[in-house]
Amino acid sequence: MADPAMPPALAEALADTAAAIDATLDAVLPPVEGAEARLFDAMRYASIGGGKRMRAFLVVEGARQFGVARASALRVGAAVEMLHAYSLVHDDLPAMDDDDLRRGKPTVHKAFDEATAILAGDALQAAAFGTLAEEDTHSDSAVRAELVRCLARAAGARGMCGGQMIDMLAETAEQKLDEPTIGRLQLLKTGRLIEFSAEAGAILGKAPHALRHALAAYGRDLGAAFQIADDVLDATATTEALGKRAGKDADAGKATLVGLLGVERARAQAERLAEQAQRHLDSFGERADLLRALARYTVERKS
Ligand code: IPE
Ligand code: IPE
Ligand code: MG
Ligand code: MG
Ligand code: MG
Repeated sequence: MADPAMPPALAEALADTAAAIDATLDAVLPPVEGAEARLFDAMRYASIGGGKRMRAFLVVEGARQFGVARASALRVGAAVEMLHAYSLVHDDLPAMDDDDLRRGKPTVHKAFDEATAILAGDALQAAAFGTLAEEDTHSDSAVRAELVRCLARAAGARGMCGGQMIDMLAETAEQKLDEPTIGRLQLLKTGRLIEFSAEAGAILGKAPHALRHALAAYGRDLGAAFQIADDVLDATATTEALGKRAGKDADAGKATLVGLLGVERARAQAERLAEQAQRHLDSFGERADLLRALARYTVERKS
């Protein structure tokens, strides 16, 4: 990851997490064999060996605040990344954003076909919940149930799927969405999963309510900043730098803060949110420095 905006300590920690998440996914996902090998191949293609792994990093760093075993955190991180990978596979389908490039390679429906992409997304989502529910993730079944409950809330009708619905409806809406509605769209489609990722370590660590709440609030503001930064990059970066097609939001008529306020004001809003996110970490000491660095990087990143 040669992003000049990233401090070396963060780059190293993210690379460590990425390698460990790839190994965890490799262990969790079925080997490519048997009559349904094409499905397993597509699931691996979609989820292993790409992406910033920011959501998994949030889980791992959140869990570290409470001394949670790394293997547990990695399983939850892998679950979140599978859920996220599923959302990207479906987001890229012709019926949604109709994209050909993702993480620098052809999207799953291009490399395989649409039916395989739909099924791989479905199966990655099931694998995410299955992984959380398995005993290896945590010895306490109440903790596992709480992880499942919270991920379901983040991913479902009042979370990612709901946000994606508003996003799709906005493309053909007669009137531009106003700022509060765009804020809600982004909270649901991106924010809830990032909030869950930040909170998950506290769930695993059975953290005191106030600390769990603080991490969730950090994740909420970070998620909002993250999506605005994604929209700014769509308008300002190159396809090569992003590994996904740039400039597509304006063409598709997407509802974004960039479309409503312009790049500069959208960027300023993302910076405010990233600062606000860091303030939620005040009751954590130096141990949360990487989470602070991640918030800053989120709005400075170039990809
Ligand atoms: C892309 O997320 C989709 C959004 C919610 C904006 P990321 O930018 O985290 O994608 P990867 O995982 O790094 O590829
Ligand atoms: C997608 O948002 C968010 C998801 C829930 C997948 P975008 O459509 O802006 O994500 P990119 O730009 O394709 O990665
Ligand atoms: Mg989309
Ligand atoms: Mg998209
Ligand atoms: Mg985007």
